[in-house]
Amino acid sequence: MTTPDPVHPAWLPPEAFRAIGSRRTLVLGDGLLAGTVHDEVADACARYGGRVRRGAEDGPYDLVLALTTEPLPGVAGEVRPDSAIGAEGYLLARRDGVTVVLADDPAGLLYGLFHVVRLGERAFAGELQAERHRPAMRRRMLDHWDNVDVHPVMGQVERGYAGGSIFWRDGAPRGDLARVRAYGRLLAACGVNAISVNNVNVRATGARLLTDRLGDVAALADVLRPYGIRVHLSVSFASPVVLGGLPTADPLDEGVRKWWAGVTERVYDTIPDFGGYVVKADSEGEPGPFAYGRDHADGANLLAEALEPFGGVVHWRAFVYNHRQDWRDRSTDRARAAYDHFAPLDGRFRDNVILQVKHGPVDFQVREPVSPVIAAMPATRLAVELQVTQEYTGQQRHVCYLPPMWREVLGFRPWGPDGTAVADVAGGASGDGGGLVAVSNVGDDPYWTGHPLAQANLYAFGRLAWAPWTDPAAILDEWIDLTFTPTATGDTEALRHTLHAIMDGSWRTYERYTAPLGVGFMVRPGHHYGPDVDGYEYTPWGTYHFADRDGVGVDRTRATGTGFTGQYPPPWSEVYESLDRCPDELLLFFHHVPYGHVLHSGATVVQHIYDTHFAGVEEAIEARRRWEEAAALFDPSLHARVEELLDEQVRCAEEWRDQINAYFFRKSGVPDVRGRRIP
Ligand code: GCU
Repeated sequence: MTTPDPVHPAWLPPEAFRAIGSRRTLVLGDGLLAGTVHDEVADACARYGGRVRRGAEDGPYDLVLALTTEPLPGVAGEVRPDSAIGAEGYLLARRDGVTVVLADDPAGLLYGLFHVVRLGERAFAGELQAERHRPAMRRRMLDHWDNVDVHPVMGQVERGYAGGSIFWRDGAPRGDLARVRAYGRLLAACGVNAISVNNVNVRATGARLLTDRLGDVAALADVLRPYGIRVHLSVSFASPVVLGGLPTADPLDEGVRKWWAGVTERVYDTIPDFGGYVVKADSEGEPGPFAYGRDHADGANLLAEALEPFGGVVHWRAFVYNHRQDWRDRSTDRARAAYDHFAPLDGRFRDNVILQVKHGPVDFQVREPVSPVIAAMPATRLAVELQVTQEYTGQQRHVCYLPPMWREVLGFRPWGPDGTAVADVAGGASGDGGGLVAVSNVGDDPYWTGHPLAQANLYAFGRLAWAPWTDPAAILDEWIDLTFTPTATGDTEALRHTLHAIMDGSWRTYERYTAPLGVGFMVRPGHHYGPDVDGYEYTPWGTYHFADRDGVGVDRTRATGTGFTGQYPPPWSEVYESLDRCPDELLLFFHHVPYGHVLHSGATVVQHIYDTHFAGVEEAIEARRRWEEAAALFDPSLHARVEELLDEQVRCAEEWRDQINAYFFRKSGVPDVRGRRIP
């Protein structure tokens, strides 16, 4: 094991444990995770002078963390509930000067401990009526798009903006297990309980993690297990051919089924708590069942069958579309593809298949409607996939706090105001839904995420997966308190104000200076950073805006367009179909309109484009000003890093503004009513 570089502690600096570390704690319960709880408290006590006991002993105690299966002393016994707390859940109470965390399983104890960490001194003040906490999602998972080999274009981490992988380097394990352990600890503290450790575009060495390189995966699993995190693996659908030497990977072939059964058994011999497989099939060149004339239910069920005896799951991605489309062909609509492929298969997937659906129908743009697949498959377990890595949202050079977007997605009600929300679909009626998955934004950067403020997105993802109805601003407060307390000057309120001013609205700011009104893309092809309005317009990727001298936008209506609006249940099928009712921010996703079309806001489309692009840059400049003013509140090197990045954000925002405004001015010939300078 190599010594890690100095690494920023993110939301778990030693000070976060001060309140616990100076107190007397009792930990009651067996098992690996109860051991973790004890060790965490013991480390804190070594630093701050408290003490911790494991197993009943005479008190008094300030904090008792106990499994409900144990004989519970004193106050812990008094607050023991009559009914089950439930998997990974915990009960928190405070009475007669004792804070109590009870859980039915050791994972619940661990999450309860981190709740006490979040509360800090507040956990030891006054009385607290027993409150119960349970995760809304059973699976709260991060997918790493980490390549084992360095890819000539994508590098070590595909769409990674925070340096190299914390797992792999140049085709081999990095061996820095201390860093992996620290990562696991951070994830547990925000509630994540699963990760997949290699890119969904599996590639040669990545594929071998399933067989001769399985030991490398086991080493990661060993380090993450004490934090309640299960390891999953992205596998190639062609594995029977490329690894097993079979002539086919046909999902209905008996030899192929046996091969997967045998390989999977070996995986579980090596990693008994292995989570399962993640599969990107028939997508952007990855192999899949279509090659054999089979569909995606055949493909997913093949792997599910192999995993089933061991309790594993297959995350089968719904990101399937034609990436070799002819741009002249106006009838093919990439937004339609996932629904067209998967909705007819509803009911055909085995129970341990989780269909992993990107939150929007296209590809993680700054603004998309919610994917209609989420409402189309009531007989399938669905996971909703988010992108914490900021591929299309500023690549961790721009501040873009994403939870307000995620919260909108999770709170969206596809069947109308009285219907179920996306969060409930992912959570499942009885907690057995597919859960929430996101592409991780972490790398070997000392701040983990390149942009130090992008740590907040990772933290918030875990917290929203646990409790999707939480206010993003409240999550930001938690993150601020944990990460920055105490502050360099002791002025917590000023620091809090600064970060809220910069981060709360940063997603909308980013939206304002980039692609307008839900039209998407307009980014530099390939790396996806910075503006290039026509960059994708005449390519095979299916991401077009159709701007001409008269207007812009994609007609996805049933009446005159691709018919995509018909994939939604009412009322949305009608709302999106209607030019009058379609929400402004999605107008160009659903409609092709003249530049003079008047929005609900009262502005014309082209004037809206000018206004928002000027405003977005102003907001970025204001964020930089706020940050510069707050230098004294932050650690100098962190402050300097963010300052540099804000300079780049302002530069890039200006470039966006000028290219977008100039493009639409030249196309339309319509001047800015306010007479501002458009180059
Ligand atoms: C995006 C991204 C790719 C990635 C793909 C996916 O298109 O640009 O790098 O492989 O999503 O989700 O599989």
